[in-house]
Amino acid sequence: MQDLGTKRLVVGISGASGATIGIELLKAMQAMPGWETHLVVSEGARRTIAHETQYTMAEVEALATRHHPIADVGALVASGTFRTAGMVVVPCSMKTVAGVASGYSDNLLLRAADVTIKERRKLVLVARESPLSPIHLRNLQTVSDLGAIILPPVLTFYNHPASIEDMVRHIVGKVLDVFGLELPQFQRWGQAVCQETTP
Ligand SMILES: Cc1cc2nc3c(=O)[nH]c(=O)nc-3n(C[C@H](O)[C@H](O)[C@H](O)COP(=O)(O)O)c2cc1C
Repeated sequence: MQDLGTKRLVVGISGASGATIGIELLKAMQAMPGWETHLVVSEGARRTIAHETQYTMAEVEALATRHHPIADVGALVASGTFRTAGMVVVPCSMKTVAGVASGYSDNLLLRAADVTIKERRKLVLVARESPLSPIHLRNLQTVSDLGAIILPPVLTFYNHPASIEDMVRHIVGKVLDVFGLELPQFQRWGQAVCQETTP
Protein backbone atom coordinates (compact mmCIF):
# COMPACT_ATOMS: atom_id res chain seq x y z
CA MET A 1 0.00 0.00 0.00
CA GLN A 2 1.19 3.53 -0.75
CA ASP A 3 2.75 5.41 2.18
CA LEU A 4 0.49 8.38 2.87
CA GLY A 5 2.80 9.83 5.47
CA THR A 6 0.79 8.64 8.43
CA LYS A 7 4.00 7.54 10.12
CA ARG A 8 5.95 10.75 9.59
CA LEU A 9 6.35 13.27 12.39
CA VAL A 10 7.85 16.73 11.93
CA VAL A 11 9.82 17.71 15.03
CA GLY A 12 10.77 21.34 15.57
CA ILE A 13 13.13 22.33 18.36
CA SER A 14 13.05 26.06 19.07
CA GLY A 15 14.96 28.24 21.51
CA ALA A 16 12.92 27.89 24.70
CA SER A 17 14.46 26.30 27.75
CA GLY A 18 14.07 22.51 27.73
CA ALA A 19 15.99 21.35 24.66
CA THR A 20 16.37 18.03 26.48
CA ILE A 21 12.66 17.36 26.05
CA GLY A 22 13.00 17.59 22.27
CA ILE A 23 16.04 15.33 22.36
CA GLU A 24 14.26 12.74 24.50
CA LEU A 25 11.27 12.84 22.16
CA LEU A 26 13.53 12.10 19.18
CA LYS A 27 15.03 9.17 21.09
CA ALA A 28 11.58 7.84 21.97
CA MET A 29 10.50 8.09 18.33
CA GLN A 30 13.42 5.87 17.27
CA ALA A 31 11.70 3.01 19.08
CA MET A 32 8.39 3.51 17.24
CA PRO A 33 8.22 0.91 14.45
CA GLY A 34 8.02 2.37 10.96
CA TRP A 35 7.99 6.02 12.06
CA GLU A 36 10.13 8.71 10.40
CA THR A 37 11.07 11.95 12.14
CA HIS A 38 11.86 15.12 10.20
CA LEU A 39 13.81 17.52 12.40
CA VAL A 40 14.11 21.30 12.12
CA VAL A 41 16.24 23.11 14.71
CA SER A 42 15.96 26.90 15.04
CA GLU A 43 18.89 29.26 15.54
CA GLY A 44 17.66 29.89 19.10
CA ALA A 45 17.65 26.16 19.79
CA ARG A 46 21.26 25.81 18.70
CA ARG A 47 22.11 28.06 21.60
CA THR A 48 19.91 26.30 24.19
CA ILE A 49 21.17 22.88 23.07
CA ALA A 50 24.75 24.06 23.60
CA HIS A 51 23.92 25.72 26.92
CA GLU A 52 21.58 23.14 28.46
CA THR A 53 22.74 19.77 27.13
CA GLN A 54 25.88 17.74 26.47
CA TYR A 55 24.81 17.08 22.87
CA THR A 56 26.54 18.40 19.77
CA MET A 57 24.32 19.49 16.89
CA ALA A 58 25.52 16.49 14.88
CA GLU A 59 24.43 14.14 17.67
CA VAL A 60 20.97 15.75 17.87
CA GLU A 61 20.54 15.63 14.10
CA ALA A 62 21.58 11.96 14.07
CA LEU A 63 18.61 11.12 16.31
CA ALA A 64 16.19 12.04 13.52
CA THR A 65 15.47 10.12 10.34
CA ARG A 66 16.04 13.32 8.35
CA HIS A 67 17.06 16.80 9.41
CA HIS A 68 16.41 19.96 7.45
CA PRO A 69 18.28 23.29 7.71
CA ILE A 70 16.25 26.07 9.31
CA ALA A 71 16.85 28.39 6.35
CA ASP A 72 15.76 25.83 3.76
CA VAL A 73 12.18 26.96 3.19
CA GLY A 74 12.11 24.65 0.17
CA ALA A 75 12.72 21.47 2.19
CA LEU A 76 10.26 18.55 2.09
CA VAL A 77 8.36 19.67 5.20
CA ALA A 78 7.74 23.12 3.66
CA SER A 79 5.06 21.64 1.40
CA GLY A 80 1.63 20.33 2.26
CA THR A 81 2.02 17.73 -0.46
CA PHE A 82 4.58 16.00 1.77
CA ARG A 83 2.17 14.01 3.92
CA THR A 84 2.78 13.79 7.65
CA ALA A 85 0.85 12.82 10.77
CA GLY A 86 1.58 16.29 12.11
CA MET A 87 4.19 18.31 13.91
CA VAL A 88 5.43 18.92 17.41
CA VAL A 89 7.50 21.95 18.44
CA VAL A 90 9.35 20.90 21.58
CA PRO A 91 10.24 23.09 23.32
CA CYS A 92 8.41 26.01 21.74
CA SER A 93 9.57 29.58 22.41
CA MET A 94 7.21 32.53 22.65
CA LYS A 95 8.82 33.96 19.53
CA THR A 96 7.91 30.81 17.62
CA VAL A 97 4.39 30.88 19.11
CA ALA A 98 4.10 34.46 17.79
CA GLY A 99 5.31 33.38 14.36
CA VAL A 100 2.79 30.53 14.23
CA ALA A 101 -0.04 32.78 15.48
CA SER A 102 0.60 35.35 12.77
CA GLY A 103 1.56 33.00 9.95
CA TYR A 104 4.90 34.79 9.65
CA SER A 105 6.84 31.88 8.19
CA ASP A 106 10.31 33.30 7.74
CA ASN A 107 12.10 30.07 8.61
CA LEU A 108 11.50 26.38 7.91
CA LEU A 109 10.20 25.57 11.40
CA LEU A 110 7.52 28.28 11.13
CA ARG A 111 6.72 27.33 7.54
CA ALA A 112 6.27 23.67 8.55
CA ALA A 113 3.95 24.71 11.39
CA ASP A 114 2.01 26.95 8.97
CA VAL A 115 1.67 24.00 6.59
CA THR A 116 0.52 21.75 9.43
CA ILE A 117 -2.28 24.22 10.25
CA LYS A 118 -3.35 24.75 6.65
CA GLU A 119 -3.46 21.01 6.01
CA ARG A 120 -5.52 20.57 9.22
CA ARG A 121 -2.98 18.19 10.71
CA LYS A 122 -2.09 17.83 14.37
CA LEU A 123 0.19 20.56 15.73
CA VAL A 124 1.50 20.25 19.28
CA LEU A 125 3.32 23.20 20.84
CA VAL A 126 5.28 22.45 24.02
CA ALA A 127 5.19 26.16 24.79
CA ARG A 128 7.55 27.24 27.53
CA GLU A 129 7.85 30.60 29.28
CA SER A 130 7.24 31.80 32.82
CA PRO A 131 5.58 34.06 33.71
CA LEU A 132 3.40 34.47 30.63
CA SER A 133 2.77 38.02 29.40
CA PRO A 134 -0.54 39.18 27.89
CA ILE A 135 1.18 39.01 24.48
CA HIS A 136 2.12 35.36 25.06
CA LEU A 137 -1.36 34.52 26.31
CA ARG A 138 -3.02 36.22 23.34
CA ASN A 139 -0.80 34.36 20.88
CA LEU A 140 -1.37 31.04 22.66
CA GLN A 141 -5.13 31.63 22.52
CA THR A 142 -4.85 32.35 18.79
CA VAL A 143 -2.93 29.18 17.99
CA SER A 144 -5.25 27.14 20.18
CA ASP A 145 -8.24 28.57 18.28
CA LEU A 146 -6.47 27.51 15.07
CA GLY A 147 -6.50 23.93 16.34
CA ALA A 148 -3.01 23.61 17.82
CA ILE A 149 -2.63 21.70 21.07
CA ILE A 150 -0.80 23.75 23.69
CA LEU A 151 1.06 21.25 25.86
CA PRO A 152 3.27 23.21 28.25
CA PRO A 153 6.11 21.29 29.92
CA VAL A 154 4.63 21.62 33.39
CA LEU A 155 5.66 19.56 36.39
CA THR A 156 3.57 16.51 37.25
CA PHE A 157 3.62 14.97 40.71
CA TYR A 158 0.88 12.34 40.76
CA ASN A 159 3.24 9.85 39.09
CA HIS A 160 5.80 10.32 41.90
CA PRO A 161 8.78 11.30 39.71
CA ALA A 162 12.15 10.45 41.23
CA SER A 163 14.22 12.57 38.86
CA ILE A 164 14.18 15.28 36.21
CA GLU A 165 14.42 12.45 33.68
CA ASP A 166 11.11 11.06 35.00
CA MET A 167 9.51 14.50 34.61
CA VAL A 168 10.83 14.85 31.05
CA ARG A 169 9.68 11.34 30.18
CA HIS A 170 6.17 12.15 31.35
CA ILE A 171 6.00 15.21 29.08
CA VAL A 172 7.32 13.18 26.13
CA GLY A 173 4.69 10.54 26.89
CA LYS A 174 1.93 13.16 26.81
CA VAL A 175 3.12 14.47 23.44
CA LEU A 176 3.32 10.99 21.92
CA ASP A 177 -0.15 10.23 23.27
CA VAL A 178 -1.54 12.93 20.94
CA PHE A 179 -0.29 10.88 17.99
CA GLY A 180 -1.59 7.59 19.40
CA LEU A 181 1.91 6.45 20.39
CA GLU A 182 2.66 4.79 23.71
CA LEU A 183 5.88 5.55 25.57
CA PRO A 184 6.71 2.30 27.41
CA GLN A 185 7.42 3.93 30.80
CA PHE A 186 4.52 6.39 30.57
CA GLN A 187 2.42 6.30 33.70
CA ARG A 188 -1.26 7.04 33.33
CA TRP A 189 -3.50 7.96 36.18
CA GLY A 190 -5.02 4.80 37.59
CA GLN A 191 -2.01 2.63 36.79
CA ALA A 192 0.20 1.00 39.47
CA VAL A 193 2.24 3.82 41.00
CA CYS A 194 -0.38 6.43 40.10
CA GLN A 195 -3.14 4.76 42.07
CA GLU A 196 -4.70 6.74 44.85
CA THR A 197 -3.89 5.52 48.31
CA THR A 198 -6.96 4.72 50.31
CA PRO A 199 -7.09 6.07 53.86
C1 LIG B 1 19.33 29.79 27.65
C2 LIG B 1 18.12 30.42 27.02
C3 LIG B 1 16.87 30.06 27.46
C4 LIG B 1 15.72 30.62 26.89
N1 LIG B 1 14.50 30.22 27.34
C5 LIG B 1 13.39 30.70 26.75
C6 LIG B 1 12.11 30.21 27.17
O1 LIG B 1 11.98 29.36 28.04
N2 LIG B 1 11.02 30.67 26.50
C7 LIG B 1 11.11 31.57 25.48
O2 LIG B 1 10.07 31.94 24.92
N3 LIG B 1 12.31 32.06 25.08
C8 LIG B 1 13.45 31.64 25.69
N4 LIG B 1 14.68 32.10 25.29
C9 LIG B 1 14.74 33.15 24.25
C10 LIG B 1 14.63 32.57 22.83
O3 LIG B 1 15.69 31.67 22.59
C11 LIG B 1 14.68 33.74 21.82
O4 LIG B 1 13.52 34.52 21.93
C12 LIG B 1 14.86 33.26 20.40
O5 LIG B 1 14.87 34.39 19.54
C13 LIG B 1 13.77 32.31 19.98
O6 LIG B 1 13.88 32.05 18.61
P1 LIG B 1 13.35 30.69 17.97
O7 LIG B 1 11.94 30.53 18.43
O8 LIG B 1 13.47 30.91 16.50
O9 LIG B 1 14.22 29.62 18.49
C14 LIG B 1 15.84 31.58 25.85
C15 LIG B 1 17.12 31.94 25.42
C16 LIG B 1 18.24 31.37 25.99
C17 LIG B 1 19.61 31.79 25.48
